[in-house]
Amino acid sequence: MKAELEAILQPYDQTHVLRFWDELDSAAQQSLADQIKAIDFEQLKTLAGSSGGASKWDELAAKAEVPPAITADDFANPESYQAAYDLGQAALKAGKVAMVLVAGGQGSRLGFEHPKGMFPVGPLSDRTLYNMLIDQLLARGKQAGKPIPFYIMTSPPTHAETSQFLADNDYFGMNPDDVTIFCQGTMPAVDSDGKLLLSDKGTIFASPDGHGGTLGALKRDGCLDDMKSRGIEHVFYGQVDNPLIQACDPALLGYHIESGSEMTSQVVRKHDPMLKVGNVVVVDGRTQIIEYSDLPEQYAKQTLPDGSLKLWAGSIAVHVFERSFLERTSDQADALPFHHAHKKVAFVDSQGTLVKPTENNATKFERFIFDLLPSAKNAIVCEVDPADGFCAVKNAPPAPSETPQHVKDAIVALHTRWLEEAGITVADGVKVEINPLFALDVNQLKDKLSTEDSITEDRYFV
Ligand code: UTP
Repeated sequence: MKAELEAILQPYDQTHVLRFWDELDSAAQQSLADQIKAIDFEQLKTLAGSSGGASKWDELAAKAEVPPAITADDFANPESYQAAYDLGQAALKAGKVAMVLVAGGQGSRLGFEHPKGMFPVGPLSDRTLYNMLIDQLLARGKQAGKPIPFYIMTSPPTHAETSQFLADNDYFGMNPDDVTIFCQGTMPAVDSDGKLLLSDKGTIFASPDGHGGTLGALKRDGCLDDMKSRGIEHVFYGQVDNPLIQACDPALLGYHIESGSEMTSQVVRKHDPMLKVGNVVVVDGRTQIIEYSDLPEQYAKQTLPDGSLKLWAGSIAVHVFERSFLERTSDQADALPFHHAHKKVAFVDSQGTLVKPTENNATKFERFIFDLLPSAKNAIVCEVDPADGFCAVKNAPPAPSETPQHVKDAIVALHTRWLEEAGITVADGVKVEINPLFALDVNQLKDKLSTEDSITEDRYFV
């Protein structure tokens, strides 16, 4: 077997991964052989020798405009909003909507030792991210009279524990037939010489291939076919770490459908030009994202005559896709390019010693789902106020933003505002949390709490 593997590795100068072959037992040898055979060395060689799709950002940014947008003003216009809401609600009622959740990341910044979806973040309920999201899908499905099929993408590091956790919790009330857990692929990393790294003597280091891995994994695992057989036409996409996400929001779905868009991105309005979010722009008629790190300051700071930022649309990684669009692009192998990320990766050196580098020593290769935008017909963006729809759990305390405490505070602030809009006062310092199965919005809250006029102690509405 060793000779066969050497023949694969030799042309790519990667035989060092067999350095400890003779020390491995037969199971470990078989595992290493499987890892080697699964690698596309030609692709890896091309990637290692490329610059990671570095574009001429200055030139692109100079031409960048904001794509067609549904703004907060449209959402605030009762006629426009109602028409969109009705359209979206009709799609939900017809069972044409599914949700895809990406949960394959390793949550390294949060430093939680389990998959991030298991992190408890309900300010009073202590519900986990999974529980909070599923409550929302159940509430939306109940309102529409049709369940919303839920597709969860894990990765090899998060798959087994996520599957077990959801099963142990009876899928938080969802019918297991409506929950599909599928696993994304991995990509090996290389050092500065383009060489593979060993994380132990029999394991080639590999990490999840980015949230863009969703496209290939949806296809490979039969999820796109399953969606088709269920009559799904619109796919709502979100990330596991944002409990404020307005999952399958009828108005967002409606605006997407109304505009004939194949891919709609929810965005926040940037007030700080240097805000660390991807900028959704149109260049030469094609919608795309320019990452904050790639947008030169002079272009980020451009303003319109009214003083507002010209490139105002910041991506929050919430999208609506047409299923047919995902099918079409999943057939085009190169629809999503790989990006390079320079990271610290622990490795076993030639002496067999584990080295934990203090500087970036490796290049990882990741695909990003937003790279589908240029391929989408009629792509639009839809504005959301972050206070209503975006606050992600990313960092461990004492980080200045996106810690669990920031997220809990944002949930309490939103639900306090809902109560106040429903005509109920909330005493200072009192915390409230509303389960979507109790009320999904202010109108439902008004109906439920018609006899109350003030809340004076902490309360979880469930
Ligand atoms: P992030 O890039 O924020 O990664 O992913 P993360 O894993 O949550 O956290 P860090 O960066 O390691 O601290 C954004 C979303 O994309 C998913 C994550 O699960 C998260 O929902 N993701 C990321 C994947 O599903 N697969 C990947 O390969 C990467």
